[in-house]
Amino acid sequence: MRVVRTIADLRALLRPLRDEGKRIGFVPTMGFLHEGHGALIRQSAARCDATVVSIFVNPTQFGPGEDLTSYPRDLERDQNLCLEADTTVLFLPEVAEIYPTGFQTHVEPGRLAEPLCGRFRPGHFRGVATVVAKLFNIVQPDLAFFGQKDFQQTVVIRRMARDLNLPVDVVVVPTIREADGLALSSRNTYLDEDARRRALGLSQGLLAAKAAFDAGERQVTKLMDLARGPLSGVDSIQYLELVDVQALEPLQGLVDRAAVLCVAAFVGGTRLIDNVVLAPS
Ligand code: PAJ
Repeated sequence: MRVVRTIADLRALLRPLRDEGKRIGFVPTMGFLHEGHGALIRQSAARCDATVVSIFVNPTQFGPGEDLTSYPRDLERDQNLCLEADTTVLFLPEVAEIYPTGFQTHVEPGRLAEPLCGRFRPGHFRGVATVVAKLFNIVQPDLAFFGQKDFQQTVVIRRMARDLNLPVDVVVVPTIREADGLALSSRNTYLDEDARRRALGLSQGLLAAKAAFDAGERQVTKLMDLARGPLSGVDSIQYLELVDVQALEPLQGLVDRAAVLCVAAFVGGTRLIDNVVLAPS
């Protein structure tokens, strides 16, 4: 595994691979890696000839008062995980490498960035879309891997890739969970024992709704009630919504098309998100 910090070094490494016709996979991350990231990297390694992983805590996607400065970091552990998951090149740019002085051009996502997380994190998806577009241009991957854990992010990025004709296939990998159901997240490290126990309400509610859906339940209100029950232990629910997977618009009445049940909640000062897809067969 090669570790590079500049765009020039990364391009120099990738050029010969691309010239040889090698298929390049890309996994963008913000570090403090866990097995969710590991699953993305492994899938890239399985499907591509070379896998690039980036670790970059992107300042433009954090709002004022969010955890940009305290975002967890452990580079040594990250490097080991990348190595074990078969990473070819680990890209570790500094902020000035990605946003040099004078930077002023952004990617502005449209309506898909407005509901759900977009409503509570203004500018977040603009920052995500901008950095991902830049990273796509820097790496020029054939395939890029994203986790379903950040469902709205996958929808915004797919739309961006289409709208801007970026020649990359966006692959979405299912959410990796702890044995008890909690979705893996770098931010889980903020949870103390009590908050960790209460955080389980997110996945418990979603998985209960999914079980009911799989058993034939189609009423939006019933599914939402099932998801809300176990959330009684969280400190506050930011949103709990059942939306269609394409436009991210709330469903009413019956689930008659592919939908995703999304939740964001605060537990012990930490904001957590999770979702399950409900797809009628
Ligand atoms: P980060 O939160 O580090 O996540 C990097 C990738 O890992 C994302 O695609 C995310 O959905 C995926 N991921 C996180 N937890 C997962 C889990 N439990 N199971 C499966 N995949 C999981 O998302 C970002 O970084 C940033 O917004 C980024 C895309 C890198 C742009 O800055």
